[in-house]
Amino acid sequence: MENSATSEAWRDDPWLGANPFDPAFRDDPYPALARLRTVDPVNETPIGIFRLTRYDDVVRMLKEVPSGVRMADGTIFGEVPVEGGPSEFVLRLDPPAHTRLRKLLTHAFRPRSVERLRARVETLVDELLDRVEEKGELDVIADLALPVPSTVICEMMGVPIADRDRFTQWTAAATHLLAGALGSPEVLERGQHAIRSLREYFEVLIADRRRHLGDDVLSDLVRAEEGGDRLSPSELMSNSIGLLIAGFETTIGLIGNGVRALLRHPDQLALLRADPGLIDGAVEECLRYEGPIVLTIRVTREDTRFGDRTIPADRPVMCLLAAANRDPAHFPDPDRFDVRRADNDHLSFGGGAHFCLGAHLARMEAREAIGKLVRRFPRMELASERAEWGTSLFRVLGRLPVGLRG
Ligand code: HEM
Repeated sequence: MENSATSEAWRDDPWLGANPFDPAFRDDPYPALARLRTVDPVNETPIGIFRLTRYDDVVRMLKEVPSGVRMADGTIFGEVPVEGGPSEFVLRLDPPAHTRLRKLLTHAFRPRSVERLRARVETLVDELLDRVEEKGELDVIADLALPVPSTVICEMMGVPIADRDRFTQWTAAATHLLAGALGSPEVLERGQHAIRSLREYFEVLIADRRRHLGDDVLSDLVRAEEGGDRLSPSELMSNSIGLLIAGFETTIGLIGNGVRALLRHPDQLALLRADPGLIDGAVEECLRYEGPIVLTIRVTREDTRFGDRTIPADRPVMCLLAAANRDPAHFPDPDRFDVRRADNDHLSFGGGAHFCLGAHLARMEAREAIGKLVRRFPRMELASERAEWGTSLFRVLGRLPVGLRG
């Protein structure tokens, strides 16, 4: 419970001190989320959206309660429509369009397809770490966390990696369109500009692909569009851009936040170094403890009871994944970072019909990147305790300088 000596300023804030669109919240959302879960676990915000913070409620909302991602009139809550923007991305669609799109995309991201990429990822990580050794200095983001997922998603999609520097800024800026009118107007404007640039970029790429189809994901999408009935031209554009962003931004956050969490918990890092077999559990704990995505949204299809509150039908609900991941009713000692944690069924990839399609890929990349990094440089230490966040909507670091101590 709230301690009487603690500042009570949050009581006057309509968001109860936990506004996910406030940049200050991103730095460390966990104390505010813990308080929200304690004082008002099923909370109605000033903009009419509900928020769930308890693990069991979030799981029920994602997996059991009749829900969708669009309102009954087909709109998306708070959305500012932008051509080529996220409105036709698979995460923003309900059946039957969602089922059709998801089926098209599942093939590329299933475990067997991802496993085939492991050797490539291993070589890539080794090469990146060779370069770090030569330089004698390391920024975990620029030298590892960004190049691994961006190279992999570019290769999977058939997007030239040489263009990466051009679209790195665009992909980060475009994530803010997911918040739509709930974010600040300037940030939204930057997001719209980024989407226009990405659209122009993909128009050229798609035209080229129509002439030379290959065995990459973009060619698969073009084939589905040319097949006529499976993908419309605007769905092709939205999902090409959406996949690039999804494959890029979030995994940078997982690797960056994960390495930072390990460096801030030297006892846990020592356990992982002593037993590299702990890497799978360590990555799951990085996802639970500091996942890059704080929330996902659903819309109720009928009146639904959570504890002593009823959320009426056709209301948007923020499922606060980060709050659920630290719920003491589900995870013992939830604020402890523990690479040996058992039964780590965190919700960082969401759940139900929209469960992250890239989860296998993200896990595989993070295991190789984090596992190899901690073995190669046994004397790493954080250059600064202060987190330097990047420009995306998600909890993704912009820089993570680390000393190598010889
Ligand atoms: C650590 C990295 C990642 C995290 C934390 C993450 C997290 C998420 C979350 C929270 C959702 C929403 C789930 C829901 O609403 O239930 C999602 C959906 C999605 N993610 Fe990821 N993601 C990651 C990496 C990736 C990668 C590498 C890709 C592949 C390119 C990807 C592709 C997608 C797609 C396509 C969806 C929409 C699925 C649908 O609506 O059916 N993600 N992800």
